[in-house]
Amino acid sequence: MSANETIEHNRRDFLYIATAMTGVVGAGAVAWPFIDQMRPDASTLALATIEVDISSIEPGMSVTAKWRGKPIFIRNRTEAEIEEAKAVTVADLPDTNARNANLGADAAATDVDRSAGEGKENWIVMIGSCTHLGCVPLGQAGDFGGWFCPCHGSHYDTAGRIRSGPAPENLHIPNYEFISDTVIRIG
Ligand code: FES
Repeated sequence: MSANETIEHNRRDFLYIATAMTGVVGAGAVAWPFIDQMRPDASTLALATIEVDISSIEPGMSVTAKWRGKPIFIRNRTEAEIEEAKAVTVADLPDTNARNANLGADAAATDVDRSAGEGKENWIVMIGSCTHLGCVPLGQAGDFGGWFCPCHGSHYDTAGRIRSGPAPENLHIPNYEFISDTVIRIG
């Protein structure tokens, strides 16, 4: 091998190695944003469950919390609102399912199974997303005193059950539990 051939050979090797390195760096630079997007950041993990202090919510009042990017309605119902919801015959409802993630899929939409249960029937916790196309309904509104979705006119009663309008299902109830008399954990 002549001296010239050696130099030529080495130059080719260098070009090859340099190109390969660029390829690796390039792939890494492209792959990282995808990996980074797939990893939930700290704020997302923190919101996997939320705890809400309900001690200041008087009967007749409600609050909207945010959980996993969704509004969560928490309402302290009055005696009159509970009685009104209890007086409804479940079989007459457009949707007879409780839509309550805390109960079996077949639970009926009785008032007690839509609420936080016996002894806590004044509390109702629901995902604030209209079951028609997902608008956020307005509270203490509509023909049944519960929630009203102005987007296309769905009326929900004081147990969050659809009573009229295009929404096909009752407002959904997320997994939640009382971790004390005054704090609810959602998720
Ligand atoms: S999104 Fe609520 S009625 Fe259409």
